[in-house]
Amino acid sequence: MLKEIIRREIEKEGFITFDRFVELCLYHPEFGYYTTKRVRALPGEDFFTAPELSPVFGRTIAHHIERISREKDIPLNILELGGGKGFLAKDLMESFPVESYVILEKSEVAKELVPDVRVVNCVEEIEEFSGFVISNEFFDAFPFKRVVKREEKLWEVVVKLEGEKLMEDLIPYSGSLPCELEEGCEYSFFTGWEDFLERLFKRVRRGYFLTFDYGSSCEDLRNRKVGTFRAFSKHTLIDNYLEFPGRADLTSSVDFGYLRKILEKHLLNVSVKPLSSFLLSEGVERFLSPEDTAIALTLLVDMGRKFWAVSGYKEGN
Ligand SMILES: C[S@@+](CC[C@H](N)C(=O)[O-])C[C@H]1O[C@@H](n2cnc3c(N)ncnc32)[C@H](O)[C@@H]1O
Repeated sequence: MLKEIIRREIEKEGFITFDRFVELCLYHPEFGYYTTKRVRALPGEDFFTAPELSPVFGRTIAHHIERISREKDIPLNILELGGGKGFLAKDLMESFPVESYVILEKSEVAKELVPDVRVVNCVEEIEEFSGFVISNEFFDAFPFKRVVKREEKLWEVVVKLEGEKLMEDLIPYSGSLPCELEEGCEYSFFTGWEDFLERLFKRVRRGYFLTFDYGSSCEDLRNRKVGTFRAFSKHTLIDNYLEFPGRADLTSSVDFGYLRKILEKHLLNVSVKPLSSFLLSEGVERFLSPEDTAIALTLLVDMGRKFWAVSGYKEGN
């Protein structure tokens, strides 16, 4: 089982770093949380995402993509990062005739939902491409370190063994951070974003990037006495996550300041705006029926305030 695999890794050096722990818990091929997740989150399960909630989200995005495609003459080739089971892909493909649709996904895509998509497991399988790179709740699902500042020094959370139990501990942190941390605060550092985006944008000749996620500004996140790391099991925030490796969702808030800085190395006109503004500016009400009050409230008020839409262009020939 996963606990045993983690225990064996810990025995080599005395601990494993938190980002490695998250990677094993979420993406271990046999026991990872995402790699073993069911097709649709049921009521009472850990989370549901906007595409799982309703096709209204996908239809509104489809409207946006079609408009940008016309305005900027970008072909309707779609690359979806972390497409999950394929709900967003299904809604987009039902909204307009796509030229091609590729999902980059480490877990199993439900082929019955999207029989015509091509699924790849890593960036290197993607050929050079012009089109739209889209994602929902992708960047928050990367492994992250938890770095804290105590007595003017930086420390990182690691996982070690005490007898048979997995425990958190702190070791000195010597790496860099995207922001200056305040005393007593904890910051979640998504260590894999830069390298991932570097490898991704090498393959994008010309296109439009659009992602949705929850999080906050760098200024806000560097000031948190309690970091934004959260573990969810059965829709409940838990703190004994070390007892169930691979069975809880481990996540943290996206630092949009840091993400924006990386994206600006590759893209022009990077914009970050609340999800509610994005949906309203694309006429979401057109896709809502009178029975959709709960969906409208979730998309526009609950998610609408916590989630942000990030976009940008890559010019090319
Ligand atoms: C929170 S889920 C969101 C799924 C879907 N986008 C949705 O909105 O329902 C994040 C997804 O990203 C995938 N993922 C995260 N990092 C990945 C990577 N580097 N390569 C491929 N897939 C990844 C996970 O397997 C997971 O299915």
